[in-house]
Amino acid sequence: MTVTFRLNGEDYRFRDDPMTPLVDILRQEHFLTGTKAVCREGFCGACTVHVDGEAVPSCLKPVGLLHGCEVTTIEGLSSGQEALHPLQAAFEAADAVQCGMCFPGMVMSLSAFMRDNPGACRAEIKSAMVGNICRCTGYERIVDTVVDCLDTHRQTTETAGSMNV
Ligand code: FES
Ligand code: FES
Repeated sequence: MTVTFRLNGEDYRFRDDPMTPLVDILRQEHFLTGTKAVCREGFCGACTVHVDGEAVPSCLKPVGLLHGCEVTTIEGLSSGQEALHPLQAAFEAADAVQCGMCFPGMVMSLSAFMRDNPGACRAEIKSAMVGNICRCTGYERIVDTVVDCLDTHRQTTETAGSMNV
């Protein structure tokens, strides 16, 4: 079976087992190792990517279901250090990450959430993080950073359109 889809803005053709999990293709064929494979059961969120703009766990996504889709990984979310996603920049500025294992998945989940919910309150942000486990930083600090990021975004870009993802 041949599956074709867009990966970080480029065409990609896959000719192998359609049940291969997307996370394995990302890490082993493309060396997009920002996407982490931790639990491989859909619990931790470390493997989260965007498929057609929706945050999904790539460990549970067989490549055969991706035909015609647009897949974006943490590497595709920004274009280098100079153009980090606002949330990446906020995490970096706040020093809100320790080991970093959860961070790419957290950014992918929350960037999609922030795009769709620019007026989200603290409780809604916490609910949005339920699928992303962090074992070392502590969630409050992460939530603080997201709240600040949304506040900043609201103040500075109200007339500039929606946040890029
Ligand atoms: S590795 Fe996919 S959810 Fe944990
Ligand atoms: S920073 Fe280590 S798991 Fe989140």
